[in-house]
Amino acid sequence: MHSSEHNLESVLAAMLGPEIVVEVATPTVVADQLFPDEQQHIARAVAKRQAEFGTARVCARRALARIGMAPCSLVPHPDRSPRWPCGVKGSISHTQGCCVVAVTRSPDMVALGVDIEEDTPLQRDLVPAICTPDEQQWVDRFDQETKGWLGKLLFSAKEAFYKCQYPLTRTIIDFHDVQLSVDLAAGAFSVAKVRPNGPSWDQVRQVAGKFCRDSHFIVTTAVLTAGSKPQG
Ligand SMILES: CC(C)(COP(=O)(O)OP(=O)(O)OC[C@H]1O[C@@H](n2cnc3c(N)ncnc32)[C@H](O)[C@@H]1OP(=O)(O)O)[C@@H](O)C(=O)NCCC(=O)NCCS
Repeated sequence: MHSSEHNLESVLAAMLGPEIVVEVATPTVVADQLFPDEQQHIARAVAKRQAEFGTARVCARRALARIGMAPCSLVPHPDRSPRWPCGVKGSISHTQGCCVVAVTRSPDMVALGVDIEEDTPLQRDLVPAICTPDEQQWVDRFDQETKGWLGKLLFSAKEAFYKCQYPLTRTIIDFHDVQLSVDLAAGAFSVAKVRPNGPSWDQVRQVAGKFCRDSHFIVTTAVLTAGSKPQG
């Protein structure tokens, strides 16, 4: 493992806490370490996608072994969401040069999402698509350089939130369906508003988000614990 991977793994482990296990690796083609159905699932993809898909499976099996689970095939669901063994919650993300997987068996964890992005500014013309008008107003208070990374931070945080909410709601939501509130000093974010209504959305509003900039990456995590009570 490279020292930057080791560092990122420690950073993510600290963000997610002791009940969640994290594995980080550089994507490489690992076809010989995949189950036959995983190989078949990815056979027609380009080499970059084969590397990230395969490395994620290898990382996931390493993480699952650390929580006492036997190796098993991890072909995704038809909707592309990850398939975990019974009783396991987890999340996967990859970006240029890095793959991260987080899993837990803790009954206190309801759902989790992780996201990793290159720490480069969000393209300015993408800001209105990613940020709600209130989020744009908040971003606009900062200098040009800060605006760029805050845009990328909101993008990543919404992706982590999306992955966390999906197992509960099974709903594809748009970037404007959720508005986040970011505490820069605390390295944390929370849900300010989420558009859909209903019991699972009341629960999803309680997602606790964290972020960190490390080794040229922005990493975000979104966790929903059993102790989170829907707001009345
Ligand atoms: C799922 C999605 C968030 C993936 O994000 P990404 O930045 O493109 O890619 P990442 O590498 O970070 O994540 C990929 C992983 O997401 C996971 N994923 C895919 N669909 C998922 C879902 N519905 N729920 C949870 N996780 C999902 C998979 O494990 C995938 O890894 P794999 O293909 O190796 O199994 C994104 O592609 C998507 O489908 N978005 C649609 C909705 C959206 O973006 N809404 C705005 C946010 S509020």
